[in-house]
Formats: sequence, C-alpha cells, structure tokens
Amino acid sequence: MCGIIGVLGDHEVAPLLVETLKRLEYRGYDSAGIATVNNGVLDRRRATGKLVNLSDLLVHNPLAGKAGIGHTRWATHGAATTGNAHPHSCGPVTVVHNGIIENFRELRAMLANHGLTPSTETDTETVAMLAAHHMAQGMTAREAVKATVAALHGAFALLFLFQGQEDLMIAARKGSPLAIGYGKGEMFVGSDAIALAPMTDRVTYLEEGDIAFVTRSGVEIIDENHAHANRDIVRIEASATLIDKRGHKHFMTKEIHEQPTVVAEALGRYAPSGLPSFPDRLDFTQIDRVVMVACGTGYYSCLTAKYWFEQVAGIPCEVDVASEFRYREPPVTPRTLALFVSQSGETADTLAALRYMKDKAAIVASLVNVGTSSIAREADLALAILAGIEVSVASTKAYTNQLTILALLAVHAARQRGHISDAAARAHVIDLMGLPDLMRQALALEPQIARIAEDLAPAPSILFLGRGVMYPTALEAALKLKELSYIHAEAYASGELKHGPIALIDRTLPVVVFAPHDRLFEKTVSNMQEVLARHGLVTLITDATGAALASEGTAAQLILPTASELCAPILYALPAQLIAYHAAMAKGTDIDQPRNLAKSVTVE
Ligand code: AGP
Repeated sequence: MCGIIGVLGDHEVAPLLVETLKRLEYRGYDSAGIATVNNGVLDRRRATGKLVNLSDLLVHNPLAGKAGIGHTRWATHGAATTGNAHPHSCGPVTVVHNGIIENFRELRAMLANHGLTPSTETDTETVAMLAAHHMAQGMTAREAVKATVAALHGAFALLFLFQGQEDLMIAARKGSPLAIGYGKGEMFVGSDAIALAPMTDRVTYLEEGDIAFVTRSGVEIIDENHAHANRDIVRIEASATLIDKRGHKHFMTKEIHEQPTVVAEALGRYAPSGLPSFPDRLDFTQIDRVVMVACGTGYYSCLTAKYWFEQVAGIPCEVDVASEFRYREPPVTPRTLALFVSQSGETADTLAALRYMKDKAAIVASLVNVGTSSIAREADLALAILAGIEVSVASTKAYTNQLTILALLAVHAARQRGHISDAAARAHVIDLMGLPDLMRQALALEPQIARIAEDLAPAPSILFLGRGVMYPTALEAALKLKELSYIHAEAYASGELKHGPIALIDRTLPVVVFAPHDRLFEKTVSNMQEVLARHGLVTLITDATGAALASEGTAAQLILPTASELCAPILYALPAQLIAYHAAMAKGTDIDQPRNLAKSVTVE
C-alpha cells in the first residue's frame, strides 16, 4: 500500500524523493507528497493522482533542503485529495504513515480538549498532532515520538521529520515494514528494499515495535520496551535492483513471460533430484490435516492445492480467506499443518490469521515471495515462492510458482504418508518438469489469445466456468479480468450453473469455459451445452482432444497443449492472465497499477 521514503542527504533531496516514490508506484497510490526541512524550516508539496502531478508542482514551486521524507498514499481515511495527502504536519512535526491508526477518533477527542483540531479527514494527521502536543508540553522530538507511538493502536509504519532539525528522522514500526538504509554520510528510510536499492545495498529491517532515531552518522534503535536494540545490517539481494521492464510494455507482460523460467527454478529448488524435497520439519507422518489461508490470488492457489492434498495425498484440507478465518476462531486439532500463502508476505489479514494459529497448529508454515516479510519471519518455517520481484499489482508469476510448489508439496505429503510409491512420486515430478515447455507453448498462442480478449472486451460482464481444479482457475481468471479491465466477471463451478447463474445466459453474455480433456470433461461439456442451448457465447479453452469433441457451436476455441491434472491449472492460468491483459489493453486501463488496488495490502 502506501510507500515511504526518507533521506538525510548531502545534496538537495526533492529530486531523489520523487525518483524513489516512482519506484514505489507499483504498491498502488492515489496521491503523493514530500516534505523537507531547509534552514530549519519545514515545508511540503502534495498532489493528487500520478506522480507527474507532484513533479509538475515542484517545477513551479520547488522545495529546497537536504533532509526530506516522501509518501505515496493509498486512501483509507478520507478521499484522495491534496489536503488528505501525506506528509501531515502540525507545529514542528511532519509525518508520513502506512497503515491505520485505529484509535484516532479517541485521540482527536483528547487533543480537542487541548485546543487542537484536525484540518484533514485522515487518521495520520492525529499522529502529527499528538507528537506536536507532546513537544508543546516540553518534550524533545525523541521523547514526543516515544510517547506518541505508545498511545497508538493499529498497524503502522511512521516516519517523522522536525522543524529546526536537519539531521534527524524518526521511524517507527508496528505492523508495517520499514527498512533503514546506510550510505556514505547519508542515511535512508524506506518502506521496502526496492525503495532503497539504488541508494544502498546495506539495510536494517526494523522489528515489530522498534523505533529508530536516524542521523547522518548512523541509527540508534530501541525495541518495544524502549531498550537499546541491535539489529543486523543485511545486504539487499542483487535482484532487488532488477526492476525494469526488459523491453516489455508493462511489468505484467514481462512477468507473464517469465513464468517458464521461474517455474523451472521452483522445480529445481523443491525437486532437485527427481523427488520432492522439503525441510525435515514438514513431516507429514505427523500431520492429519492441512489448513491453508490466504487472500485473493493466493487463496485460489490454496483452493487448487486442496484438490491435490485430498486426491493425491489423501489428507483432509481446509482453505479459507484470511479475513474470514481470523475472526471465525476455528478450533484447531493438534496434528494440523497451517500454511499461509502470500506473495508480499505483508497482507494484514493473512498475518493476523498466522498469529492466531501460532501455538495452536503442529507447525505454522508460510509460502512467501518476499523472504524478509513479516509472514516469512513469523512462521515456524518459510518456503520461498522464488518468483523474483513481482512489480505488477496483478499477481501472475507468483501464482503459478505457488501452484507449482504446492503441487510438489502434495506429492511430498503423499509419499511421506505412504499414500503413493516413490515411483509414483517420481512420475508426478517428471510430469511437473514438463511445465516450462508447456507454458512456452501456451505463451506462443498470445496473438490468438489477444484476439479472443479483444472480442470479449466490449462485454459489460463475463462468466467463467470450470470443474475440479479448473474451478479455482475460473475464479482466478475472473479476478484477473476484474482487476485489470474493470469488466464485471464472475466464476462458478460449472455444476453450480443450473442452481442460479444460468438465469443470466442470453445472446449477449460471453461465457469462458476451462475444460481440459480430463475425467470431468464430459460433465463440464454438459454444462457448456446448457449455455449453448440458451444462445450463450462460449469461448472454450481446452486441449486438442477436447476441441475435437466439443467445439461445435462455440464462438471461439483456444487449444492448449495436453496437460495432466497436476499441470493443467498451472498451464491454464496463462490464457486466463493473457485474456485479462489484452482485454485491459483494448480498454486502455492502467495495467500495472489498476485503480483502487495496492500490491501489498497492509490494512485489513
Ligand atoms: C492479485 O492479482 C491481487 N492483486 C490480490 O488478490 C492479491 O493476490 C492479494 O491481495 C493477496 O496478496 P498477497 O499474496 O501479497 O498476500
């Protein structure tokens, strides 16, 4: 969600702040702003919409200073207006914030008793007001921030700058990540390593409850008990700096085309010698039940894996969206593996669900793309998704890598539990090893998929259908289309069609059917016939055998290479992604940063 950058530099910082905010655009935002302190004076510039508006403002109304903070805002409290954009200031304090201050109304009421009234609709302004109030009572900036942070409820990352202090930034972390970067005589604070990568490769990740006092000569960190804390300095992976589009028009298409490569990397890591290989702690002889929790696209990879855990490994598996799971307070049996799946590793609901399961499940594991994230660090065991940095808000390569690793995990569970022989496990791995090649063949069909997408794009609404492992694929296809093209889309298990959604079918409703020639093919095709009988416009996505048997009457067909039930949902995700991408191209939407969406959803 919101992006944060802070710099104590030895040059003018405004250009660097804006350039860094550009690198944070991928997180999703609707306004941006920067503040500097120059000759002791705090000042700020803020603008709604894309960063170019802030840059234009700075051309006409520059901001001098060698110490500054910047922010991209994803609105939570209050509309995306200039007034609500960060930094928020009160007296000698200015602050940027990612997250939510849950008790801001109570704090406002308390501050009103001291004659302080807010001028914005935001929760963040209350933080600046409270710190300013403490300073007015005689506290130093350091004392004021400690007292302020102690009074806040919620999840947040905060970065403060102060009037009259050109060599001090104060950062506080509770719930949302922050990293301190070390330069030569310069110091940086960023909401992630991507922000800091061009300036430094040496960073310290703050822990929960930490407050960091940053000056040009270094950083002093205290923990949640205000005791001095030593935090490691780590080198940012080289890959953190590799965020260019490599000749692609969008990050999304670059990431779609990276899938054969990153799936091969995942297969190499988790099945290096022809059998699945996972850490010893994942001992499925000690596990009777798998509980998987995630949000959005990660939830659909879990739903797919449920079929695999149950069918391949014979182990009961439950899947939940994190926002429901965390408040349902489900009973947990002791021999449970709780697995949390998240690309960003910072999704607030998934993190809260993980914390609920800690000490209840036999083992709490995570499958996460960002190794330094909260969900990776707080799990007993973190499995890496190995997709490389995913910049596009719409998840693509992280999804197919999640699926690939979960397929291997289900085979691993089956083998450990004696549900299948070693030979059968090896056969599954060989099957999965064929995926990169199958994916390349599917990507070669992009021109044909683009034509299908262009035909679908004018429709106000589209229905996706699938059975078995193709049901979560249909759900993911509908989510991708909504996210990118803003076309309304729904997905149903095709067996559910006649229980209601069939009422929607007429000559105008496009219906996309995922139907590889598997053991459920006949059943899916029967449902498709019910659509055709009512003049629905069917696009059939199948393989050569399926196309030969069921193309008649369909408006369009896409023939993918033949794939097993383990490989099919991974392979069929590619046309789902490409349909969404090309429909969005046809509609001219903002592909890498769709409206209202954020890459990392750090509030519930
Ligand atoms: C995917 O395209 C979406 N942007 C979204 O549904 C995402 O998968 C969800 O917010 C979960 O994010 P996470 O994987 O980072 O936890």
